Amino acid sequence: MPHPSLADVFPEQPEEYAWLDHEPVFDPARHLQLEKPDQSWSLGDLGYGEAFIEKQASQTAMFSTARLLSEEGVAALQETARLLEPHVHQVPDGHRATGYLRGTVFISKFIRDLCRSDDVTEFGSELFGTPLVPHTMVYQQGHMNFAPRDIAKPVDGWHHDFVGFDYVLMCHDPAGYRGGDFRYFLGTREEGHAIVSRGETIPEDRVVTPHFPGAGYACFMQGSAVYHCASPLQERAERVSLVNAYVSLDVTKPDPTRTFFITPEGPYSWIDEVPETRHSFAEYTRHTAWLAREKLSHLLREHPFDADRESSLEALRQAVRDIERAIETMELGPQHFEKMEELRRKQDAELLS
Ligand SMILES: [Fe+2]
Repeated sequence: MPHPSLADVFPEQPEEYAWLDHEPVFDPARHLQLEKPDQSWSLGDLGYGEAFIEKQASQTAMFSTARLLSEEGVAALQETARLLEPHVHQVPDGHRATGYLRGTVFISKFIRDLCRSDDVTEFGSELFGTPLVPHTMVYQQGHMNFAPRDIAKPVDGWHHDFVGFDYVLMCHDPAGYRGGDFRYFLGTREEGHAIVSRGETIPEDRVVTPHFPGAGYACFMQGSAVYHCASPLQERAERVSLVNAYVSLDVTKPDPTRTFFITPEGPYSWIDEVPETRHSFAEYTRHTAWLAREKLSHLLREHPFDADRESSLEALRQAVRDIERAIETMELGPQHFEKMEELRRKQDAELLS
């Protein structure tokens, strides 16, 4: 059973989407094989200080690979990925990742049911020690990266995510191709960003490349705090990864979700053509409304009757902070990528104040 607060959150399939025909039907009993990872890194291990760590819903930054799917589950996912391939959006080579697909939960019931599986959600919640639910920005569920046309390009460049929690699931066995490695930076996002912005290479001795024993294994991480990438393929290969995001129900911590609206020009001239751009204002609004409702409910449950003026004021400020941030972002409207990156860093910094 999904969390009750999600009852009215996930929209029905928007009009421009249609379900795949003849896809496998997700069956958790046959398709899942959940096995915990054997290694983890804390936010402290990455160099984050106390002020940052205490604002996060979990102290754990990331894990080594966890098994998610059985062999039957892998076969079903690969079959679904092949059916999804005609829908893949190939974007110009200037963009970070060049072959991707969003809105998969509106096209494939298999992907939708996998991404909203209670078993996997509970598994992730236990790993991070915080109650998670599938991300309330639905386009952050089941994002898929496909091999780029130009294999000299990274499958996905160095970055940190726009969501708090996610996993990267390999749909194919990485032993079947050279390159295309998923990699973690052993440092903070600010440090990683600074190195890449100077045009330098992330030092090899500060990179972890988790070993994927096969298809169906995943790396769970606090993607907003973990700088990561997928390296270039060294040969043409079928390589598909699925990224599924979550939000924590611990609303006493600031929301790490960030949303961008980018001006459709230069390397982003394609951006208005994808449905998620048209839906992004509504998605962001719905996510913010859910979050504000959760925060107000928490306030009604927990705010003590003898609270003083200052703590009452602060409680109300926190409850509306996400709405104010969403208004700030949407009033600004679509901007150049660099301007949005600047806004993102400003909003990240404000959370620590
Ligand atoms: Fe990512």
